[in-house]
Amino acid sequence: MQTDDLENELAALAGKGLLRQLRAMPECGARIRLADGRTVLNFSSNDYLGLAGDQRVKAGATAAVERLGCGARSSRLMAGDLELCELLEADLARLVGTEAALVFGSGFLANLGVMTVAAGRGDDIFADRLNHASLTDGMQLSGARWRRYRHKDVGHLASMLAKANRGRRVVVTDSIFSMDGDRAPLDELAEVAAARGAMLVVDEAHAIGVMGEAGGGLCREVGCKARPDVVVGTLSKALGGYGGFVGCSAAMRELMINRARSFIYSTGLPPACIGAARAAVAVLAAEPNMGERLLAKARLLRGLLAAGGLAVAALESQILPVHVGGNAEAVRLSQLLWDRGVLATAVRPPTVPDGTARLRLSVTLAHTDDELRVAAGTIVDVAREVGLV
Ligand SMILES: Cc1ncc(COP(=O)(O)O)c(C=O)c1O
Repeated sequence: MQTDDLENELAALAGKGLLRQLRAMPECGARIRLADGRTVLNFSSNDYLGLAGDQRVKAGATAAVERLGCGARSSRLMAGDLELCELLEADLARLVGTEAALVFGSGFLANLGVMTVAAGRGDDIFADRLNHASLTDGMQLSGARWRRYRHKDVGHLASMLAKANRGRRVVVTDSIFSMDGDRAPLDELAEVAAARGAMLVVDEAHAIGVMGEAGGGLCREVGCKARPDVVVGTLSKALGGYGGFVGCSAAMRELMINRARSFIYSTGLPPACIGAARAAVAVLAAEPNMGERLLAKARLLRGLLAAGGLAVAALESQILPVHVGGNAEAVRLSQLLWDRGVLATAVRPPTVPDGTARLRLSVTLAHTDDELRVAAGTIVDVAREVGLV
């Protein structure tokens, strides 16, 4: 590709209001102090429990670095299989309630690994239309036939399953959808999958640490009957560090060690990330009501936005979308908010469907109630100025 082609492609993106740009910041916690002295409240962070800056988690990372150094030095199958990583896997399996767990370099790599091992040529994958991009990429890489059912539409899934190939069948869904914050109908999905002999894969990236007993995920909520064959999680959101994992049977773990290319051909997780994740899981066990406290804060913010006239959906998680529609309009709203001290990044296609650009607000335990009030007031004021309310 010539430079001109690259520039034309960038210009085309800009023309559609779809150009994405990085914004370097001196720090990225719940409140960001800028060089000009301003403080910006961050509502685009996935550090839901504020653990990225927690002293106990930092101490876990530091101790691991002091003992083991900065890198795993090779892939797990060569010489990078740290005992500490296997201890973390035991912690994570206990957290999500599976027989075993396997750690990957990130949640994205975990999803590539799971999907490519769960299904291959001659098999069928059925995915919710709004699943995370990493699940979509994984199923495309798998070589299986894949189809997407309408968002949370179990009837649509059932009709697709009825026409499946004779090979393996896999149903895959996010538990909390990342850009809408709504919950998958896990019990019904599990029932339909079981009736057709399909494996159920549930991505709990946004639920781990927040939902379920001691933060074990939506599948571990009291009353949830779904027992997925495979649970995917990330160490990079509520757990405050970096890395991903798959909770599964011992056999699936062994098969992924042998077949998942995103596991085999990538360096093991660095000690700092392992130490941080183990400490974060210990914090969840010591403070099992963090998720509840977080959801109470999210309820407060949602109530304030609704009272200000914004059309916000019923609260199902700590993620609150504010729908705008147009790409340029969403970017403008986000910029006006930034100028007034609120970071709420605009989310546009292809991350969300065409015509549904939005601000994705995420509440964290590190936000004080006063900060939620200030942010809600600012968001409502700016929304009025641009005619959204
Ligand atoms: C639902 C879902 N799955 C997986 C991932 C990827 O996780 P990671 O950031 O650890 O790569 C994300 C991250 O945005 C996500 O939202």
